[in-house]
Amino acid sequence: MLSILFTSLLLLQSVFGEPNMEELEGTWVSKSNTVFTGPGFYDPVDELLIEPALPGISYSFTKDGYFEEALYRIKSNPKNHSCPIASITYQHGKYEILSNGSVVLKPFAVDGRQLLSDPCGYKEDEAKYVRYVQSTWFEKYQVSISDYHGRYMLQIYQFDGSPMQPLYLAYKPPLMLPTEPLNPTDKSKATSTSLRKRVRRSLENQYRTNAVRQENPVFEKLYWVGVVLLGAGSAAMLLR
Ligand SMILES: *[C@@H]1O[C@H](CO)[C@@H](O)[C@H](O)[C@H]1NC(C)=O
Ligand SMILES: *[C@@H]1O[C@H](CO)[C@@H](O)[C@H](O)[C@H]1NC(C)=O
Repeated sequence: MLSILFTSLLLLQSVFGEPNMEELEGTWVSKSNTVFTGPGFYDPVDELLIEPALPGISYSFTKDGYFEEALYRIKSNPKNHSCPIASITYQHGKYEILSNGSVVLKPFAVDGRQLLSDPCGYKEDEAKYVRYVQSTWFEKYQVSISDYHGRYMLQIYQFDGSPMQPLYLAYKPPLMLPTEPLNPTDKSKATSTSLRKRVRRSLENQYRTNAVRQENPVFEKLYWVGVVLLGAGSAAMLLR
């Protein structure tokens, strides 16, 4: 009896033990289950951010110290509550777990991208596609098994101690783009104009219109092409 108890304590210890990279390894997604790191979120070749169907966030960690961040957030617009502001953010780089359990994300500065959409804002600000780099500091984190979902759950506490929305394990090993810097040279100059147009158009279309997408056969076809490509991409990533 005691030995059973002891064994299960040991098991618990190994699941919930010292903070370590193996425990953090994987792709973690918020409840909406719509945002995943990897090729379905950011296309590094065309430098395109791909807008997910619904807001959400995802973090991936490798056990050898690399992370990827995918955020699609919508917040209310202080100027007009019926005009929310959307942001899509991609970053990747290295991370470290400090001995006291805090986690530091150190993004590769050349690769971060953010798309901001403020559809009712000033004309110039309607959609902005920018390079983005934001070092991030998490006070601590906790991995547990969610009672509700029966899945591994990652609770991150932000730099100020406030809890982030809980994340659930979706892939392990993680679904990620290559972990080395993707953009060692600045080639974005040549393409920036056309790129900006493409991204802006795609965001505006999708942002205004769930309904249109379903009624319009062209959109529908594009959607399915996207799904198939995404599927192939994920399969390729998983097979590697
Ligand atoms: C807020 O945005 C809505 C939708 O674009 C618009 O119809 C309305 O006039 C705006 N209200 C104000 C106070 O700007
Ligand atoms: C861990 O240490 C860093 C400084 O090295 C400190 O800023 C941070 O607040 C510490 N975290 C906790 C959870 O105490």
